[in-house]
Amino acid sequence: MHIFNGKAALIAYLTSIKTTDSTIGFVPTMGALHQGHLSLMEQSLVENDNTVVSIFVNPTQFNNPEDLLKYPRTLEQDVEKIAGLSNNIIIYAPTVDDIYEGNVLSQKFDFDGLEHQMEGKFRPGHFDGVGTIVKRLFEIVSPTNAYFGEKDFQQLQIVKKMVEKNDLTVNVKGCTIYREANGLAMSSRNERLSPAEKQEAAFIYQTLQTAKEKFENESVEAVSTWVENAFSNNSAFELEYFQIAEEATLLPCETKNETKKYRAFIAVFINNIRLIDTISLN
Ligand code: PAJ
Repeated sequence: MHIFNGKAALIAYLTSIKTTDSTIGFVPTMGALHQGHLSLMEQSLVENDNTVVSIFVNPTQFNNPEDLLKYPRTLEQDVEKIAGLSNNIIIYAPTVDDIYEGNVLSQKFDFDGLEHQMEGKFRPGHFDGVGTIVKRLFEIVSPTNAYFGEKDFQQLQIVKKMVEKNDLTVNVKGCTIYREANGLAMSSRNERLSPAEKQEAAFIYQTLQTAKEKFENESVEAVSTWVENAFSNNSAFELEYFQIAEEATLLPCETKNETKKYRAFIAVFINNIRLIDTISLN
């Protein structure tokens, strides 16, 4: 198992193992690893000669300082979980200084409007922070393939846009959402839920599944109103947004167009813990 805390040593190592046609798969994470993260690593291991996993709680993507402070940091357990998967994974767990070199600021990006929808509305500056860190990590790791979860579908589309606009050579792959047995999308934030809240949170995916069924025959407005009512009638939750949007542009869907792909997106609080989920609708 190779663990690097500094980019110079990581780059030197990656250069030393690189051959003309070898591939590097890259899985960026913020740690507090769960089975969802590990499923991305499994895919990378199958598809690449080498796999790099980064573990870095990126300060510039947190619009809420308390959220950054409370974000779980569990490096030792994370390393154990990765070792349980494979001893060939290369871990990069940098310090803030190694990444930001004393200048903890985001670059400003134009993601052709993808950044103004949903998470972008409720988490100002978040996607500039994500763009900044992912671009920097891509420069350091120079991956052939990079793996991102569809759980953060807006992030996945934004990373693809960033790669396209900057002519980067990395191939960005979206991976299916890994769920608890009760349907709750796995998330590092789930650790903050009590066992009872975890059970209750199954309601989020159940509601998305019903919304998908309704989407076949009902209008976007009818489906949205039904979801909003379902959450206002359930006192455990506070709904932040429910949005049906086109996959490619993330623009809200008003009337359905048979040639387009749509998704439902949701952000909801349970006991002040913010959870997001998404489902493909057609
Ligand atoms: P983090 O939340 O740690 O997630 C790391 C990767 O795991 C992301 O691509 C995310 O979509 C994916 N992931 C999370 N939960 C998942 C699940 N249940 N099933 C499948 N994949 C899942 O997303 C970030 O970190 C950061 O924004 C990062 C990209 C690392 C930049 O800092």
